[in-house]
Amino acid sequence: MKTIIEPFRIKSVEPIRFTTVEERRALLREAHYNLFALHSDDVLIDLLTDSGTAAMSAAQWGAVMNGDESYAGSPSFFRFEAAVRDLMPFKHVIPTHQGRAAEAILFSILAKPGRKIPSNTHFDTTRGNIEGNGAEAHDLLIPEGRQPGLVHPFKGNMDLDALEAFLRRHGEAVPCVMITVTNNAGGGQPVSLANIHGARDIAHRHGKPFIIDGCRFAENAWFIKTREPGQAGRGIKDIVRDMFDGADGMTMSAKKDAFANIGGWLALNDDELATQARTRLIQTEGFPTYGGLAGRDLEAIAQGLTEIVDEHYLAYRVRTNEYVSERLGALGIPVVKPAGGHAVFVDARAWLSHIPPLSYPGQAVAVGLYEVAGIRACEIGTVMFGRSPDGSERPAAMDLVRLAMPRRVYTQSHADYIVEAFGEEGRDRRLPHRLATADDAPLHRPLRAAGVRMQDTRPAHAGRVPRRQIRRQLIGKPKQLISSFLLY
Ligand code: F0G
Repeated sequence: MKTIIEPFRIKSVEPIRFTTVEERRALLREAHYNLFALHSDDVLIDLLTDSGTAAMSAAQWGAVMNGDESYAGSPSFFRFEAAVRDLMPFKHVIPTHQGRAAEAILFSILAKPGRKIPSNTHFDTTRGNIEGNGAEAHDLLIPEGRQPGLVHPFKGNMDLDALEAFLRRHGEAVPCVMITVTNNAGGGQPVSLANIHGARDIAHRHGKPFIIDGCRFAENAWFIKTREPGQAGRGIKDIVRDMFDGADGMTMSAKKDAFANIGGWLALNDDELATQARTRLIQTEGFPTYGGLAGRDLEAIAQGLTEIVDEHYLAYRVRTNEYVSERLGALGIPVVKPAGGHAVFVDARAWLSHIPPLSYPGQAVAVGLYEVAGIRACEIGTVMFGRSPDGSERPAAMDLVRLAMPRRVYTQSHADYIVEAFGEEGRDRRLPHRLATADDAPLHRPLRAAGVRMQDTRPAHAGRVPRRQIRRQLIGKPKQLISSFLLY
């Protein structure tokens, strides 16, 4: 059979609430056009994130009842530890309440003023934790990864020549090399096995620990299986183990590829580093056999890790995004190609070329999409990344809108609805245009609500173009990148 179906039956459902366009306009005004400020029961289809939003399986809910809530030595911890080690055989597995807590602990030890940490692309919480500790976060993505319309099988790859040159130049200042799989901020694009191993070997040749941000490791493994020469015959678990082979540590958000609603971990091989991390863990998260989690959460993660490597699930997962991406492409909506593992990214800068980046075309699309169809998406562009540590603002590398697909939550008819919403919105570009031009509906409101100040300027071009140039100035915030995920 050729049809790829949702590889599950639905045993328990969650009704979603329908609203009218008029209601949504009012809700947007109340939320100051800040989609993070909406109440989620006012959202029909929530594509804000794939993080913590998965539907747990019956087996996971059953496992929840086995949670042992002992302060120390809970069997739930040992089941969790064994499930992690089955895939990623690190010596020390340290549970945390989510991925950024693992990053916070790691970088409280490794990141200091004067230090520089290279990656393919740091996710914004990673960057925030590095910069918050006074170090610099550097993205060394291959150039193909920065061209939204270009098709390349592994657009998340690290530029290995650039990494080699970086380490030669700044070696002394580098405490570790990171790689993010898949590359979320760059469109959910995968990293090849050869590239992961290449980055690992370069790091080791320079005597640096190699740390993987493994949030979407299973989706990445699926791309390796289906796209990398010589990998098709291998099982997903086998590929996952190979991805982590020889790595010195990992940070993980179990809210992604572990089907959990909360959780994460920091895994390390180095005893001394692990001791320091556990000391910090006890100060901030909890005792090392539960971290920031309840025993029941550890059980849900352990079970989720056995389910995420299922090939039928991964085939359906990746196909869902390809399906939406292909149909948006057919409507003439520019999307990042190929589709990402967890999301479809719309290239708002290309689509709304009449809106300059500093007037936030991505935010215009996201707000328009909610108004038209009740769908909540997330701007990943100049609103999120445009601010430099010195307080100035410049266009981000790309202005994308991420339609992140929660795991096992929505069906194909939801996907069709999403595509239809774009059709309606896209026909005359009416909504984004109105949002960027109307005096009474400026996009500055959400940003002002987040401590942002605007300055009116005349647009560079006349006629049907934005009348307001929006400038964000974060007031009283630390001099580090502040993104939506850190702000709200
Ligand atoms: N690393 C990557 C690649 C991520 O995508 C995220 C979270 C984190 C680290 C942090 O994990 O949320 O558990 O603290 N990404 C979410 C998202 C927020 O919507 O992409 P966390």
